[in-house]
Amino acid sequence: MVDWYREDLAYIHDVGHADFALKSAPGILEILKDNGIPDGLVVDLGCGSGLWARELLGAGYRVHGIDISEAMIELAWQKAPGAEFRVGSLFEAEIPPCDAVTAVSEVLNYLFDPAYEERGLRDLFGRVHGALRPGGVFVFDVLGPGQVPAGVKKQGFSKGPDWAVLNEKEEDEETGTMERRIVSFRRVGDLYRRTDEVHRVRLYGPQETAAALGRAGFEVRTMGSYGGYPLGENHAAFVARKT
Ligand SMILES: C[S@@+](CC[C@H](N)C(=O)[O-])C[C@H]1O[C@@H](n2cnc3c(N)ncnc32)[C@H](O)[C@@H]1O
Repeated sequence: MVDWYREDLAYIHDVGHADFALKSAPGILEILKDNGIPDGLVVDLGCGSGLWARELLGAGYRVHGIDISEAMIELAWQKAPGAEFRVGSLFEAEIPPCDAVTAVSEVLNYLFDPAYEERGLRDLFGRVHGALRPGGVFVFDVLGPGQVPAGVKKQGFSKGPDWAVLNEKEEDEETGTMERRIVSFRRVGDLYRRTDEVHRVRLYGPQETAAALGRAGFEVRTMGSYGGYPLGENHAAFVARKT
């Protein structure tokens, strides 16, 4: 069992933060179709609770989802029972031969896998390139530097009928990373259960990401939105096509 997206935060992400996956979905489906991929196998890295997998199934694709969080994968089996799911790190798990690979909602930024921290995205891009058929695409988004002004601890909260989340973000310009300290409360019976998690992410600028994709052999398009759904500031999406 890993220490991130444990049972309660996985539940809260699924019920309270579904917007990103659901609002990105029409734009990403369009990207797949525009690239001549109207069906076939999509490997979804960091698939979370299967929200995007369910959209893909509905559009006629087969789906293989991979996520490091057992709790997320448990939800995904319930949400998208027609898909295949696996618990594992996307930086190590075998990526089966496929038509498209996706990693939606800043999945590649997370530093949940210590072995990966040193290697950066380079290995992953090579592995994805190897798994895709010619003409296949890798669609993903990453956060870049500049999420929080230097020296600031930015605090926020979100809430739903049976949960609340407090968070504090701090960026370290020198290491190019950001830490999110997350305190979540979920109602269990008459009481609220508290869980603390710390998520570290590495921030990748759009130029360095596009250059690394190019070195792995991809033709690259950088975007500020998935179709009509705009990403936030310093948040870029990529369509990397294997020629
Ligand atoms: C912000 S959530 C997005 C989930 C889903 N893609 C969505 O859009 O709803 C990030 C997900 O990436 C997963 N993740 C982070 N690092 C990972 C890794 N090394 N291997 C597999 N999954 C990872 C987390 O467990 C989490 O489910």
